Amino acid sequence: MICVILPGRGAFGFVYESALKQTRQAAKQSPIKAGLSPSSASATPPLRNVAVKMLQPIDPGPNAKETTLAVYRAAHSKWVRDPLQYACKAYCTARQELNILIHLRHPHIVPLVGICTNPLSIVLELAPMGALDQRLRHYRRSGDKLSSKCVQLVVLQIGRALEYLHQHHIIYRDLKSENVLAWRMPEPFSAATASDGEDLSATSVHVKLADYGISRPTLPTGAKGFGGTEGFMAPEIVRYNGEEEYTEKVDAFSFGMFIYELLTLRQPFAGFETVKELILEGGRPPLTYRDLIYPTYLLDLMVVCWSQHPRDRPSASQAVSIAAAPEFIHLGDVVSLADYGSCCAQAVVPGNKRVMQAIFLPPP
Ligand SMILES: Nc1ncnc2c1ncn2[C@@H]1O[C@H](COP(=O)(O)OP(=O)(O)OP(=O)(O)O)[C@@H](O)[C@H]1O
Ligand SMILES: [Mg+2]
Repeated sequence: MICVILPGRGAFGFVYESALKQTRQAAKQSPIKAGLSPSSASATPPLRNVAVKMLQPIDPGPNAKETTLAVYRAAHSKWVRDPLQYACKAYCTARQELNILIHLRHPHIVPLVGICTNPLSIVLELAPMGALDQRLRHYRRSGDKLSSKCVQLVVLQIGRALEYLHQHHIIYRDLKSENVLAWRMPEPFSAATASDGEDLSATSVHVKLADYGISRPTLPTGAKGFGGTEGFMAPEIVRYNGEEEYTEKVDAFSFGMFIYELLTLRQPFAGFETVKELILEGGRPPLTYRDLIYPTYLLDLMVVCWSQHPRDRPSASQAVSIAAAPEFIHLGDVVSLADYGSCCAQAVVPGNKRVMQAIFLPPP
């Protein structure tokens, strides 16, 4: 088996790309999953590309980069110093993630392939384009931005994954671009991303929600427990350190911050200190003029999602309905006069004396 370390790294160990050899029987039992027609299932089963998320530090081998080796050595020495604590943590995370993933089937939730007990690892379908945070960094370095249409498709797909989780009484708790995996995303400056990406077809974007390490089933009253990523964590978790009950609306708050990442290609509050205090006081991450050129409904959805009070945030289903509306990516707030060389005029509407303002565009 050839393993390649993937760019992202789990909390306990590396994530490897690997090829899984299916037994004839497995391929026969599940010809559809293996991508085969039932008649061809008796032929040599194909290799299946998977991601193996290690839950314990495994030596990456002598050919690994020095930085990779340093990370491994640090994780390994911790593990050796207190094996019981780390083994228990890894075991609990594996159970937690499996307990959630094993019951879920959705086009925008990463499919579980299996589990390996030694070394302790979770096997998932491989996302060919890796984590979304890497794609956003790629865009940022190129100087391009995501088109409105591309943002809409990502928002809709992850919104639907959240809606599905909430319908199954699961709070996700760690929504951020690092935990979203990409199967398909347009390249920067490609034809599909030109202007507002109006021509981008729905099939050019396919993303799925991964990393269920801190997701929790909820009771009708809500859930407790401290968990999430600073900057994405809802104020009601931060304020009481997770000791007071909260609802699935904590995911709506992170969804707002996730939209911020898509629009700005920055992490919320990057470079800020005292982020917790800022969020508790109602502070939100900064937006530049360039960020505000996105359509109004998109910006509004981000702002309403990160409302201070959970009651004011939309449910995942409401967020999906808003994002699916045809006007979602069409209504802009800002028209640059300089761009059009246009002229303004005022007119009094006869009868009701209202002043009407208009912008006239030059003839084509
Ligand atoms: N199925 C996959 N295909 C491709 N890359 C993956 C896959 N699963 C995970 N990765 C990569 O590994 C990284 C870490 O995975 P994951 O978020 O599941 O681990 P984690 O231990 O929960 O990390 P943390 O809790 O620190 O976010 C991801 O950000 C991604 O880059
Ligand atoms: Mg993660």
